[in-house]
Amino acid sequence: MAQLRIAHTADLDRATLQAAHALLVDGFAGELTDDDWEHALGGVHALMWDGGTLIGHASVVQRRLLHGGRALRAGYVEGVGVRADQRRRGHGGAMMQALERVVRGAYDLGALGATDEAAEFYAARGWSLWSGPSAALTPSGIQRTPQEDGCIYVLPHTTVLDPLAELCCDWRDGNVW
Ligand SMILES: CC(C)(COP(=O)(O)OP(=O)(O)OC[C@H]1O[C@@H](n2cnc3c(N)ncnc32)[C@H](O)[C@@H]1OP(=O)(O)O)[C@@H](O)C(=O)NCCC(=O)NCCS
Repeated sequence: MAQLRIAHTADLDRATLQAAHALLVDGFAGELTDDDWEHALGGVHALMWDGGTLIGHASVVQRRLLHGGRALRAGYVEGVGVRADQRRRGHGGAMMQALERVVRGAYDLGALGATDEAAEFYAARGWSLWSGPSAALTPSGIQRTPQEDGCIYVLPHTTVLDPLAELCCDWRDGNVW
């Protein structure tokens, strides 16, 4: 029977991190970049194990999202993947449930950038497609990120978001959202 374990990056050994990285490389059909992987580190991981084999990974890391004049503390979900032969058995949902508890307990809101394939998965869990404008706080100032519109999902918790106002993420290498 599959077992879910929750741990901070600091408490994962090298072999587990390598297994999670390999799982995501496969899960994203070779499109996972080094930056994508780095974005999944430094927070809380949900790991689904089948005996000694890792079959699912997801993590939540802290980011700041500027919105309505405030710097919201966001739990940003990254690196969500279930091994292809283990999908539609509830593993993804179980990992998200654990991370959503972290979001509700520690952050103003949850946020993530979804693949097309996972859009229904997040919507079914109550995440909302961000319908307002998106932007990033780049080294040269705030810049709109129109290419990300339609991919960003939010899980408001303590904060009511205004879809007429911009949602602006902090800066990082690679994909900003
Ligand atoms: C998205 C992903 C993590 C879902 O994991 P999973 O273990 O299959 O998800 P679950 O079994 O918990 O699915 C729960 C519900 O989400 C929805 N759902 C999940 N995958 C779906 C899909 N491909 N299409 C439509 N709805 C889907 C369904 O409502 C499902 O319930 P059901 O099986 O009873 O119909 C998995 O498909 C995956 O790893 N995809 C490739 C990597 C990826 O795109 N990750 C997301 C990055 S943002």
